[in-house]
Amino acid sequence: MRAKIIATGSYVPERVLTNFDLERMVDTSDEWIRERSGIRERRIANEKEAASDLAYEAAKSAFKKADFKTKDIDLIIVATVTGDMPFPATACHLQHKLGLKKAAAFDVNAACSGFLYGLSIADGFIRSGIYRRILLVGTEVLSRITDWEDRTTCVLFGDGAGAAIIEATSEDRGIISTHLRSDGSMWELLNMPGGGSRHPATKDSVKKKMHYVKMKGNETFKVAVRTLENLVVESLNANKLKASQLSLLIPHQANLRIIQATAERLEIPMEKIFVNIDKYGNTSAASIPIALDEAVRQGRIRDGDYVLLEAFGGGLTWASALIKW
Ligand code: COA
Repeated sequence: MRAKIIATGSYVPERVLTNFDLERMVDTSDEWIRERSGIRERRIANEKEAASDLAYEAAKSAFKKADFKTKDIDLIIVATVTGDMPFPATACHLQHKLGLKKAAAFDVNAACSGFLYGLSIADGFIRSGIYRRILLVGTEVLSRITDWEDRTTCVLFGDGAGAAIIEATSEDRGIISTHLRSDGSMWELLNMPGGGSRHPATKDSVKKKMHYVKMKGNETFKVAVRTLENLVVESLNANKLKASQLSLLIPHQANLRIIQATAERLEIPMEKIFVNIDKYGNTSAASIPIALDEAVRQGRIRDGDYVLLEAFGGGLTWASALIKW
């Protein structure tokens, strides 16, 4: 039994925040942001929208494309670092909104690699015969944990959600292999220190801005390029494939220069790499499923194509998934 993605969906909030808007908020420029990151604009959730609301819209758009009743979903996995609340899981809020009474629900926290960690879990449940139909959603409202006075981070992130419905199949296609990695010794490169049991919310934690993303961008950049190259090579070797046999590489959209550097090292032409960072910035766990949904809608993935998904993020974590579409 294999696991196959039978439908995708995505949702981004209406409000667009451009680089020019950011010029009026912090000491930055459209030119700097575009040259260093490839980002032109990003979406920002309205004050009533939480992670499960974005997830709900993305899931609905995926269900519209799947030809079975939503009640048949066995499991909901949500990947997020900006869930509605510390608990219960955002997946439970989503289950309630969708009215999927039969489904189990839980969240995965692997930061920007969260969707691929979730995909690997879904693949395992389906291959082992435990579940047949799984809804996987990556959703983030990063604007709520962004320090809008810190120009080194606030220009990079955005909000959005992407969903995939994964089903058991006996066909020779679907998820071929997933590869998960982590290195907790580098946790300080990318984190949000406040709000957990180490530094619970206090007046002092708020004053010290501990409830915002902290990132050592330059160091993170170097680790990302090195680890992603190795991971893509490992994923291809494990399946005796060459990079030239890939029809499309969908990388996590964190920085266009990371994407270009990885492509160059792997000798994969940019035409075979999906890029939409210019429109949305880094949406963490939502980035890959939004890109996957856009790639499907743009007709860039056909039946039988080999597609490789890869991500890198806080933890540090990194992950890939090879799919025969
Ligand atoms: N506008 C203008 N200048 C800025 C700026 C901004 N928004 N942010 C930082 N700068 C300045 C810095 O203060 C620094 O100035 P200095 O040389 O006078 O000290 C200079 O630009 C260069 O900063 P640096 O951090 O070295 O830039 P960079 O080339 O590494 O680019 C990032 C910064 C954040 C775009 C880049 O490091 C990055 O994308 N890193 C990885 C991010 C990532 O992938 N994170 C998530 C993984 S999921």
